[in-house]
Amino acid sequence: MTRQQIKAELENRLDMSNIPAHIGIIMDGNGRWAKRRGLSRIKGHQEGAKRVKTVVRYADDLGVKHISLYAFSVENWARPSFEVSALMKLIKAYIVRERQELHAEGVKFKLVGRLNELAPEIVKEADISTELMKNNSGLSLNLCINYGGRAEIVDAVREIVRSGIAPEKIDEETISRHLYWPEIPDVDLLVRTSGEMRTSNFHLWRSAYSELYFTEVLWPDFDDVELLRAILAYQGRERRFGMTSEQLTEQEI
Ligand code: FPP
Repeated sequence: MTRQQIKAELENRLDMSNIPAHIGIIMDGNGRWAKRRGLSRIKGHQEGAKRVKTVVRYADDLGVKHISLYAFSVENWARPSFEVSALMKLIKAYIVRERQELHAEGVKFKLVGRLNELAPEIVKEADISTELMKNNSGLSLNLCINYGGRAEIVDAVREIVRSGIAPEKIDEETISRHLYWPEIPDVDLLVRTSGEMRTSNFHLWRSAYSELYFTEVLWPDFDDVELLRAILAYQGRERRFGMTSEQLTEQEI
């Protein structure tokens, strides 16, 4: 079968009434992809950056409403400095290069993480995109840079304390409202590429009931067909949110 035939076959099986609203992706395996080809790790990241466009566009076409990409974690600063600066350059170039096209497609955009620790020019470029796209109504692209799930919860708690909310008034909803992009809902489907079976401090709060999908495919090889496979796996799961199967049938949630 050709790639197009495989894609058509997978699309046929898709239940368009059950597309995950929010997909989170841990884009792992750039380094191994490069090493297998005798290339530098930076080349792996460059190829990885190219896949972002394919995946975001196809997710939007399928009706996914929110996509969170883990592009740089709070722990990634520990990498060699040349790799850190190459990643930052790639991220900034992506924001600038894709701005008009994402806007034309009706996407909303936000950079999330501890932004005060990032180079100001990256935050400035991201702010231009956020402002430009703020009235769009399509997919929300949540680009997670210097992001950590624990850091996000710590930052939310700091905001809550600063705002003087009484302890007895604090509930789960309060925490959700103080996350970096509060309008984004919980993650329905959390994808990690490259065979690692960890969530590595990504979206801790919002992944409480996420369906997890792990694939051996390395991020630079992850494309529209791989996204389809992930969504089909999601559609094969029964999401019970703590209830029994029988209760779900009765409630038809
Ligand atoms: C993990 O692969 C990947 C990262 C730490 C960075 C992800 C970055 C990109 C996909 C490119 C830039 C992003 C955008 C949005 C333009 P790894 O290097 O840990 O791979 P390895 O485990 O095989 O070494």
